[in-house]
Amino acid sequence: MVGLLRFCLWQQAQYPLAVSSVRTSRKAVLLGGAYLPPTHPLLSNWKFRNVQWMVTTTRRRRRVRESRCGTVKEEEEEDSSSTAGVMGASPIQLLLVSDLDSTMVDHTDPYHTALLRFNNLWAAEYAHNSLLVYSTGRSPHKYEELHQQVPLLTPSIGIFSVGTEILYGSSLEPDQGWVSLLDDGWDRGVALKELQRFTNLRMQDASEQRPHKISCQVDSKDAQDIMKKLSERLQDCGLKVKIVFSHGIDLDVLPQRAGKGEALAYLLQKMRSKGQIPQNTLVCGDSGNDIELFLVEGVRGVIVGNALPELVEWYKEHGKNKDKIFQATERCASGILQSLQHFSLGPHLSPRDRMGLNGIDSPILPSESRNGRPAMHGCAQREVVEFNTLFEKWINAEVPNNAETFQRLTRVIARGSTMVYPWGVEQSLVDSVSSAQPKYGIMKDNKLRTWIDCIQEQKLADEIFLVTWHSWQISAGGEKKGYFATAILRTKEGMPNGVEWVRVHETARK
Ligand code: GLC
Ligand code: MG
Repeated sequence: MVGLLRFCLWQQAQYPLAVSSVRTSRKAVLLGGAYLPPTHPLLSNWKFRNVQWMVTTTRRRRRVRESRCGTVKEEEEEDSSSTAGVMGASPIQLLLVSDLDSTMVDHTDPYHTALLRFNNLWAAEYAHNSLLVYSTGRSPHKYEELHQQVPLLTPSIGIFSVGTEILYGSSLEPDQGWVSLLDDGWDRGVALKELQRFTNLRMQDASEQRPHKISCQVDSKDAQDIMKKLSERLQDCGLKVKIVFSHGIDLDVLPQRAGKGEALAYLLQKMRSKGQIPQNTLVCGDSGNDIELFLVEGVRGVIVGNALPELVEWYKEHGKNKDKIFQATERCASGILQSLQHFSLGPHLSPRDRMGLNGIDSPILPSESRNGRPAMHGCAQREVVEFNTLFEKWINAEVPNNAETFQRLTRVIARGSTMVYPWGVEQSLVDSVSSAQPKYGIMKDNKLRTWIDCIQEQKLADEIFLVTWHSWQISAGGEKKGYFATAILRTKEGMPNGVEWVRVHETARK
């Protein structure tokens, strides 16, 4: 369940089909997401012949699922790609607009601890009523590269290429209105020709040259001088441009209307015109191209603890409305969480942190006060995330090994409920969960890390909720694995989130 019950089936050699993915190498065998050495006792029952057979069987099944998924995906994409799909009818509690490199993503932490903490909090407490927007200097291509490498959530909206491209939903549908606006006073060919006259400007990768962005690199000592001269030249050519210097080396030439701040202002205006005024907007950044974000009217901002001098200096000299800008002491995503607390924008402790001690505590909404409350919008979603988090902590031995902690997992399972595994086996959900109790600490050494993306909750009927999500997991030495998951939960008094689990269905993704 929740991508983790696969572990319950490790020892069940009587169910050979119950292995989602089996890879063999001289060093290790990957079973259900974890590498085991070939000498591991869990493997003693396995016959290599069976393993081979299972691999082919799994592949064939996957192909069938792929074609089915294809249809589902198309539907999903159609939904999420439209602006209306992203900016739905319900009120937006928080519009969180974050830069990626060195703001959301800490490139110095190979385990992405802070980002996983953020993801965990977002899925549990914000995904049902808030929008996540990435605003990055990266082109969509470089963004995809990063998305493959690090545990980034899928945003509702992506503002790419330093505010020159606004793309919606998982299908990344471009905002054509924004494209047309940027054409005003912009002639890429002329700008490029002028720029090439400066011999101390070096062009960046081809992928970063975009219809409304020309990007180069320049030594920081030459930057001010070049920016001044280039600006004059382009003005003389009748162009309306903006030149942005970031990271002490990157120089972007954009249409004057473009930039991270302008793009956000455009988005906010668009939302307003649809009656979708976010209750709060938080912008997060670390470098020069983020400065504009902090200048957008009505937003609060966090400068992460590791921000570059170019942003910190700007803040010291020009940071107007300083009470609306918070300088975090923590790095990257941890700084963002700090700012949620600073501005009282909502919960700031991820289940991963608050469930750390005894696995069941919740300082945000104490279990006593939740008990007996009818499940509200977001409760089923929170249950999915908390359950998943506690399960992860159980097999990683990050919570105490006692019956009370484990009971948090079994008591929320409805009698007669079932789980369908990605490999096509149905099992009693209670049995699946219970069989995990002796697996305490099995991932202690290579730490399984999971994150839940694209989580959505729908109330199907009174007291019945459908939750869908993408579950991802990775462990030290293991490869990233993903599942599509669907669960039915229903209201039940006395449960930590006011709901119990009725059915879970998982499908392995490509
Ligand atoms: C990203 C982009 C690059 C840009 C820089 C600063 O690194 O890939 O093209 O110059 O951000 O905005
Ligand atoms: Mg950055």
